[in-house]
Amino acid sequence: MEKRPYENIIVENEDGITWVTLNRPEKRNAMSPALHYEMDDALANLAVDSKTEVLVITGAGEAFSAGQDLKLYFRDTANNPAERRRSNEAAHSWFWERLTTFPKPTIAMVNGYCFGGGLTPVCACDFAIAAEDAVFGLSEINWGILPGGYVSWNVANVMSFRDAMHYAVTGETFDGRKAEELRFVTFSVPKDQLRQATVAYARKLMEKNPAAVRFTKEAIRTVRGLPAQQAVDYLRAKGEALKYFDPEGGREEGMRQFLDEKSYRPGLGPYHRKKP
Ligand code: ACO
Repeated sequence: MEKRPYENIIVENEDGITWVTLNRPEKRNAMSPALHYEMDDALANLAVDSKTEVLVITGAGEAFSAGQDLKLYFRDTANNPAERRRSNEAAHSWFWERLTTFPKPTIAMVNGYCFGGGLTPVCACDFAIAAEDAVFGLSEINWGILPGGYVSWNVANVMSFRDAMHYAVTGETFDGRKAEELRFVTFSVPKDQLRQATVAYARKLMEKNPAAVRFTKEAIRTVRGLPAQQAVDYLRAKGEALKYFDPEGGREEGMRQFLDEKSYRPGLGPYHRKKP
């Protein structure tokens, strides 16, 4: 992706992994309208960036994100309906639509505080890896508001009913270890191992056939909302589409290596990829 003049985020690529860092550490990466516009632009471009094999979203400094910026996003736009609407659309675009439809695997690397609206990109990413001492909170109740946008819907889907109700109504915080126990994140690690663990996980994803990864993550998201019979029908069509979409011809290659060459066992690891 060409370098763009962002002030609120940093975009870097290292060996196929694109790191997008929310970069307002002095405000604990609270999300301002300007940050939303930059994230929306960045994700639109990264979705078609050939150097991006895995996307990681994280925060600079002590926080992943302290949620919506209470001054710049809420108070300063209170009497400016056009700006309120524009920034709201940009927010919903990047931290929900663009992330949930991103064509490559996405990882939220939660390095610290994660409050309110900051929970949405975590839920939207395919995977989430948290520092054990990261602090999560549905703090809305403490502001006298409810978890709006996609937050309530997301926690009610990702957590159990009991846990979603408890954390939303009490506003009690939970750390990265607890987030793993609640299955709110994929796993947690000590903070000094966070980046290394994220890179290792990203590399594991990069060993797989990218077309199969994309179709599989899309399938897992979609079937959750379908009745069984429709899911089977959808998966049949999706599976056929994958055969034509996959430039590596993974299905035939896997069959060849297993049945003819006898060089691989799928239960023990991926077939030997031949990149096109
Ligand atoms: N909006 C605007 N500014 C914020 C936000 C926010 N969500 N969060 C932090 N800041 C600002 C603080 O006002 C402070 O600014 P200042 O230096 O100009 O005074 C600066 O960021 C640093 O914040 P501190 O509170 O000093 O940092 P600390 O490390 O002590 O605490 C914490 C961090 C726990 C995240 C605290 O800032 C906090 O509780 N923030 C609000 C979290 C929250 O409830 N977010 C949900 C918002 S509602 C929603 O998203 C829908």
